[in-house]
Amino acid sequence: MLSLATLRLVILGVCVMNSLPKVLSKEWRNSGNGRIVLEEAWTIPELIHQIGHGFFLPLVDLAPGGTNAELKANLLDIHNQRRQFMDENNIDFMVVSCANPCIQGLSDPVEAENMAVTVNNRLAETIANDTERFGGFASLSMHNATNAALELNRTVTELGFVGALVNDYQQSGPDNTTLLYYDQPEYDVFWQMVSDLDVPVYFHPRSNIAQIGSLMTGHARWLKGPAQEFAATLSNHILGLCTNGVFDRFPKAKIIVGHLGERIPSDLGRIDEQLLRQIPNGIPMKLNVSSYWQTNIWETTSGNFQTPLMKFHMDTIGLNRIMYSVDYPYVAIPEGEAWLQTLPSVLSAEELNSLTRNVAIEVLGLNK
Ligand SMILES: *[C@@H]1O[C@H](CO)[C@@H](O)[C@H](O)[C@H]1NC(C)=O
Ligand SMILES: *[C@@H]1O[C@H](CO)[C@@H](O)[C@H](O)[C@H]1NC(C)=O
Ligand SMILES: *[C@@H]1O[C@H](CO)[C@@H](O)[C@H](O)[C@H]1NC(C)=O
Ligand SMILES: *[C@@H]1O[C@H](CO)[C@@H](O)[C@H](O)[C@H]1NC(C)=O
Ligand SMILES: *[C@@H]1O[C@H](CO)[C@@H](O)[C@H](O)[C@H]1NC(C)=O
Repeated sequence: MLSLATLRLVILGVCVMNSLPKVLSKEWRNSGNGRIVLEEAWTIPELIHQIGHGFFLPLVDLAPGGTNAELKANLLDIHNQRRQFMDENNIDFMVVSCANPCIQGLSDPVEAENMAVTVNNRLAETIANDTERFGGFASLSMHNATNAALELNRTVTELGFVGALVNDYQQSGPDNTTLLYYDQPEYDVFWQMVSDLDVPVYFHPRSNIAQIGSLMTGHARWLKGPAQEFAATLSNHILGLCTNGVFDRFPKAKIIVGHLGERIPSDLGRIDEQLLRQIPNGIPMKLNVSSYWQTNIWETTSGNFQTPLMKFHMDTIGLNRIMYSVDYPYVAIPEGEAWLQTLPSVLSAEELNSLTRNVAIEVLGLNK
């Protein structure tokens, strides 16, 4: 027999389920020149133990000028210090997503799928009273592409999220070493949903499983994390999507890559030229990587506020593929704004608006 307390909980649960708020605000705060940022991490208490796991560096070094406890507090917060940093640094709108590795760090498919629903519902509930300033990217279990597609649809159509963010490959298997990459044919059902919904998927790096970490950076453990490891592993995944023909099969699919493109645009000439040599070997890719960077791939400046590099990217891929973002709370929001304040010497007012908001408004469909 159900106790009264349990019954109350069940009823409350049903009410919460039925009244999950739709968070996409058609009335986002559009001040006309405020920034939009979209690689901004947050997590829930159930996943906070993941933070800093797999890094050699103590967590304090992940949070420049701050402490381990502050970093975790910033990740758990939406309405306090995060909102205050936004107000103080001219940010109109922030898309929030679950901190690396989030669901991609859960090897058990059932646990991963349940946790993804928990994270998504919690995010929707948390930002529901401030949708003028916050939007959400869905977290997805990528163990089963059909279920990932269904959860993406639910979060976009029912919760109002503006897309998804995946933290690189999905780990799976009893020792975590079965790595699932979304460039395989079984993910076509997922890319079909991404195309039908017309929402972007952000490809964010993850701290690697222990076995990769020791093979790749065991000789020089300082290289773990953002200095080297992240771009090295995530760029394989991005280039896998290109070379395995995902964007030929799904020409409308949109992905976003942070940190000024995980170094790929610096090398596009050589990548294209070398991959031409794989045509006789049957490479599925129909076009070349440069061309997907004109049609399917966008990038953000998250944590990579380097003016000469950005100018090079403007020449190579075009400013219409580049969006401002911070990478809060691993990178300080005032640091990003201080960098933007230096840009009027190299960008026109129109170009600055393109970087800090106009491309994002289009890619995220904020005014749709
Ligand atoms: C939303 O709710 C949170 C938690 O109650 C609160 O701290 C915050 O101020 C609210 N935000 C707005 C814009 O009302
Ligand atoms: C994925 O989940 C669906 C149920 O939504 C199931 O029918 C299908 O067999 C699963 N696919 C794989 C590869 O396990
Ligand atoms: C697999 O990952 C889980 C959680 O990420 C961790 O607790 C466990 O120790 C890992 N197993 C191995 C064999 O590394
Ligand atoms: C998303 O789900 C809704 C039902 O919740 C359905 O009507 C719609 O067709 C689905 N969208 C796509 C693109 O499959
Ligand atoms: C890449 O593709 C574009 C457009 O299809 C083409 O103009 C360019 O020459 C190609 N680059 C190489 C190195 O093949």
